[in-house]
Amino acid sequence: MSGYGITHYHDTKEIYRQLDRLLHQPVRSIKAEALKEYEEEYFNKKCLKSKAMIERAKKFIPGGVQHNLAFNHPFPLVFDRAEGAILEDIDGNRYLDFLNAGGPAVLGSNPPGVLKKVEELLEHCGPSTGLFHEYELKIAELICSHIPSVEMFRMLNSGTEACMASIRVARLATHKKNIVKMGGAYHGWSDQLAYGIRLPGSRHFEAKGVPVHIFKQTQEFFPNDLKSLERTLRANTFRGGTAAVIIEPLGPESGTRPLDFDFNAGVRDLCDKYGALLIFDEVVTAFRVGMAGAQGYFGVMPDLTVFGKIVAGGYPSAGGLGGKREYMNYLAAGIKAGGGKKALVGGTLAANPLSAAAGYFTLEAIDRTNACQKAGLAGDRLTRGLQELIKKYNLPFVAYNQGSICHLETVGTMLLHIDIKKFWKIKSTIKEAHTRKKAMEEMGAAYMAEGIVTLAGSRLYTSAAFTDELIDEALTCFERVFKKVDGVTS
Ligand SMILES: Cc1ncc(COP(=O)(O)O)c(C=O)c1O
Repeated sequence: MSGYGITHYHDTKEIYRQLDRLLHQPVRSIKAEALKEYEEEYFNKKCLKSKAMIERAKKFIPGGVQHNLAFNHPFPLVFDRAEGAILEDIDGNRYLDFLNAGGPAVLGSNPPGVLKKVEELLEHCGPSTGLFHEYELKIAELICSHIPSVEMFRMLNSGTEACMASIRVARLATHKKNIVKMGGAYHGWSDQLAYGIRLPGSRHFEAKGVPVHIFKQTQEFFPNDLKSLERTLRANTFRGGTAAVIIEPLGPESGTRPLDFDFNAGVRDLCDKYGALLIFDEVVTAFRVGMAGAQGYFGVMPDLTVFGKIVAGGYPSAGGLGGKREYMNYLAAGIKAGGGKKALVGGTLAANPLSAAAGYFTLEAIDRTNACQKAGLAGDRLTRGLQELIKKYNLPFVAYNQGSICHLETVGTMLLHIDIKKFWKIKSTIKEAHTRKKAMEEMGAAYMAEGIVTLAGSRLYTSAAFTDELIDEALTCFERVFKKVDGVTS
């Protein structure tokens, strides 16, 4: 399919076969003595400024960092330089950036063209006025012209907010009550969607601090399982109906649990059959999979699309909701024509000129430079190289990618699930997930010490700033880590 960052769709069944094999083996992680050496020789000798700053930060910031993704074993590092595919910490150490700011940096960090436009805007307007700015129109026009199902776009502060807005609109539009999500998916951290997070079947277990009654009208279904979705939709017809089914179109956690190619079309059919809206959460996929998003790639049109991350190009306040005019009108500002119902949304800094301009120039540059395709090819090269290394060292690890979204599963934490019928196993599954997560963090620390920044030790986003040489350099770093994994003899 041309125009997309995914050159070939993976063989989903084969990936699950490999992941299943991984889950049924003892965890293989970095050897204890190798981890100790990384801690002593790298973190405690070459990262002293970071170490000191995080010690100070721990007094004033819970856990010492303001962002979950910045957490790192044995302590987070502090970064103050970012350019293209390269990051530098305050001790002057250089890293290859596969975190991509958590997804937004499809062009690479701090692209100079966008920076220049943002500087120009800031000089004469500042970051926000609370009033309308031309770039709000320009970014809405641009998004509507590329994303096939989107006729209108309202910019919000974050993906979390946009997901919240999407389910409010769905309930108003359908007059139905329930929201169904795919188990394991992350749609931000709002109360109602903090359900079935990370592990399918986990229901409210990860939603500490949220009263259980909030989830009375939220259900989850199992990824790749249309039958479990239909069972839920059918049951909901007796309890207020389903307002929306919300999914990540590549699968939960950006395709960590990959989907069959036809799955989204199946979900669309079931939504139509039961009169529910289909919401695609394209926070990660829009403008990364391609300018037409995952919906263009799969040829499946949702009713509402959630945006985030890339729509502000890595600048603050990245979120928005798009969709058909009839639904988007529930978000109209002012008194609604005819006095119709309105969904409550807000945000003092939503759609400020800075975010709108940064987003507009980022999306325009992604399109003009074919950045999705370039980042996707870098992802293909990285994944191929990782697969070769896995084979060379006879490791049980699994590497696969959806273009520039690459997965390197070494422990399979998020491949576990909870079967509520086997209630006696719930505690042990959660315990196992924590043990595996710890091993994943240790692998992440080893990658970091070798000069590779990953997303939580198991996901790697490539950007258009990666050249073949940089990908090959990364593979050399990965090889150094793989040689130090339990059971590998060199
Ligand atoms: C698929 C998906 N939806 C929603 C969100 C939440 O977006 P934000 O962090 O902007 O609130 C994320 C964030 O990682 C995400 O990956």
